Amino acid sequence: MINTEPEIIRQIEEERPRVPVGLLSRHQKDRIIERGMVGLYRWYVARSQAHRNWNPDRDFDWRLFRKDHSPEMVQILKGFFAVEQFVPDYVTDLLRVIRKSHGRSHFHIRWGAEEERHADLWYNAMLFSGQMSPDALRDYMEELRSSQWTLPWQDPMYMTFYTVFQERATQVNYLNTAVIARGKSDKPQFANDADPVLARAAQTIAIDEAAHYNFFLEGARIYLYYYPAQAIQAMVDVIRHFAMPGSQVNIPDYAKFEETVYKAAIYGPREHSRDVVQHALDALGFDNRRALEAGIKRVRQVPDEEGNWQESQIFEGIDFPSITDAVQRIFGRIKNYEEETGHADIDPTLFQPNYAAL
Ligand SMILES: [Fe+2]
Ligand SMILES: [Fe+2]
Repeated sequence: MINTEPEIIRQIEEERPRVPVGLLSRHQKDRIIERGMVGLYRWYVARSQAHRNWNPDRDFDWRLFRKDHSPEMVQILKGFFAVEQFVPDYVTDLLRVIRKSHGRSHFHIRWGAEEERHADLWYNAMLFSGQMSPDALRDYMEELRSSQWTLPWQDPMYMTFYTVFQERATQVNYLNTAVIARGKSDKPQFANDADPVLARAAQTIAIDEAAHYNFFLEGARIYLYYYPAQAIQAMVDVIRHFAMPGSQVNIPDYAKFEETVYKAAIYGPREHSRDVVQHALDALGFDNRRALEAGIKRVRQVPDEEGNWQESQIFEGIDFPSITDAVQRIFGRIKNYEEETGHADIDPTLFQPNYAAL
């Protein structure tokens, strides 16, 4: 039987590789990503100032902090204190890489200010725990700061994904510590660690970490939408090689700290894969790690008629409609904010679709 012309066209269409039609040049994508980051940063700062403007000295009744915490809890507080001591490195190293980006660099400085108060909060917790003299604490700080943290990845997109997992992991650590401090742990070693001041401290700091996690998730969604192939590759690499910042620097007794938080059910491999990696994958529209890694295999880069590289077959490994919706919601939130402040009248940040059709 001879095929009719429409039939032939249909067959050709069916066999054509699924190449989404890209609408934006690299330059245009980078510009819209930057606009999105600036808009998110502005929204974030206003919200942070309105809802999370706490002070590590004044907002906690440190005199009531318990002086008889278990050795395990003291070990944990000391570990948290140590990890947050590297805040100058967390800020400066990445800031050098992203300094040209208004949105990312200004956000990063703000983020650093919030991390700085975490360092001071744990400093107060250690001081008022009565387990180290003020001089010993200062000596310990000096010892810590002789080591230096360096970036695990030099690429700003990679660092966005790294920070997604790191912030969530930190939040999980503090949330689970708050459970112990509320007297709700079923581990016998923490039977006598209920402490309302510590519970409030861990909870307050966990809320900051949740806000950080959410900001970086939004950044990750923007990258996934505009640069899906590169973003998926970055996420796979980051998950594969992930290590918490504390393990990258010289913290005395870090192995003991890791063992203590593991035995406390605060943070270990189980929490990492279930409450951190899977949580972030769910939030970004991936079923699981395998789906993510399968997504990477399907991604092929093919040139379009103008020689620009486009991703093919990308939509099978990723819930792209939900990423698209999420990115539109981000820009919707920015729009609302800019309408309130008046920026929308003269310089509105507008969503720009990356593809002609899905
Ligand atoms: Fe922190
Ligand atoms: Fe954080």
